[in-house]
Amino acid sequence: MPKKSVQLSGVVVAESAICSIDPDEGVLMYRGYDIAELAERSTYEETALVLLDGEVPEAEALEAFRRELTKLRELPAETEGAIDRQAGQAAPMEVVRTAVSTLREATPAQLIALLPTVVTHYHRRREGLEPVAPDASLSYSENFLAMLHGSRPNERDARAFDVAMILHAEHELNASTFAARVVAGTGADLTAAVVAAIAALSGPLHGGANEAAMALFERIGSADRAPREVREALQRGERLYGFGHPLYRAYDPRAVILKRISRELSEDAGEPNWYAITEATERTVFEEKGLYPNVDLYSGSVYRYLGVPNDLFTPLFAASRVAGWSAHAVEQQGDNKIIRPSAEYVGEPRREFR
Ligand code: ACO
Repeated sequence: MPKKSVQLSGVVVAESAICSIDPDEGVLMYRGYDIAELAERSTYEETALVLLDGEVPEAEALEAFRRELTKLRELPAETEGAIDRQAGQAAPMEVVRTAVSTLREATPAQLIALLPTVVTHYHRRREGLEPVAPDASLSYSENFLAMLHGSRPNERDARAFDVAMILHAEHELNASTFAARVVAGTGADLTAAVVAAIAALSGPLHGGANEAAMALFERIGSADRAPREVREALQRGERLYGFGHPLYRAYDPRAVILKRISRELSEDAGEPNWYAITEATERTVFEEKGLYPNVDLYSGSVYRYLGVPNDLFTPLFAASRVAGWSAHAVEQQGDNKIIRPSAEYVGEPRREFR
């Protein structure tokens, strides 16, 4: 049954070999591989290559891809200038969008490698801190956190972050990926497709949902206040971000994994509050509305435990999802078809102009 608040819900508009979803069972697969297995046994770099190439790479091919990514991490001067000019005033997703616009004929590898540098360079500049240069000896996620915080993360934090990146890397024809495919379908290049995707991701109904969910948890303040606050919010007709999904009618499989990671990080940090508020909110929303969490419910607390500021949650999502966007743009370009659906006209019938 189509979801009533989602336009084009249930309408199949493309054939794709990249990602499959079982919305009733809550199963998500990239190229036929279950994300639960990828989250257990893969890395972000490897998962990105699986998305782009369609197969699990041999060790040598993976090593070559890792080396390629590390070589591409440095910001081109024009991109760095664009970020520095905007760092004081523009919102994070505006900066990410503009920074990507400066890249000419970008490749998937260049975009995957550069986005962490874009996000962290921007963040440190706006905080008045010196940006941290990428470190070629570090993995994608170690380097991402090192460039953000200025110190090398411990193994547990780097792995938690890496799993979050794996889980956000791809999700079939979500709004941003559809936007990327529409642009790629016109024959425009990958840079243009990814800029469109970033713009689509910036809205709270899509990528901005975990930031909005965290804002609610901050308002709630403690787990014991959650049931009342949530019931009142629902009575006021508020939309609760991090709940419900355009596709899933079951527990979002990414949320299962992020919930576990959030709990583990909260125990290790001896700081149970964010996990406890999120869980209490989840329980009340299920009792009241029967709604399940989506990926954005627990990703906020995971990132919070890793020291990521709320307004960088969506840029992190973009940094990860660029692998999926690129795979879809390449697939669409291979098909060489423009996407042009039709609308049902509900306006005035033919009439005289004057
Ligand atoms: N908060 C409050 N109520 C909700 C929510 C929510 N997040 N989601 C659904 N509902 C309500 C609906 O209004 C409906 O109520 P009703 O029967 O009293 O009219 C009922 O729950 C059942 O809704 P569905 O038919 O399952 O879903 P619907 O099509 O209404 O909404 C949507 C789907 C738009 C995704 C919605 O769940 C939502 O806005 N969620 C929050 C946004 C979010 O977290 N987005 C990020 C993940 S999805 C992505 O990235 C694209």
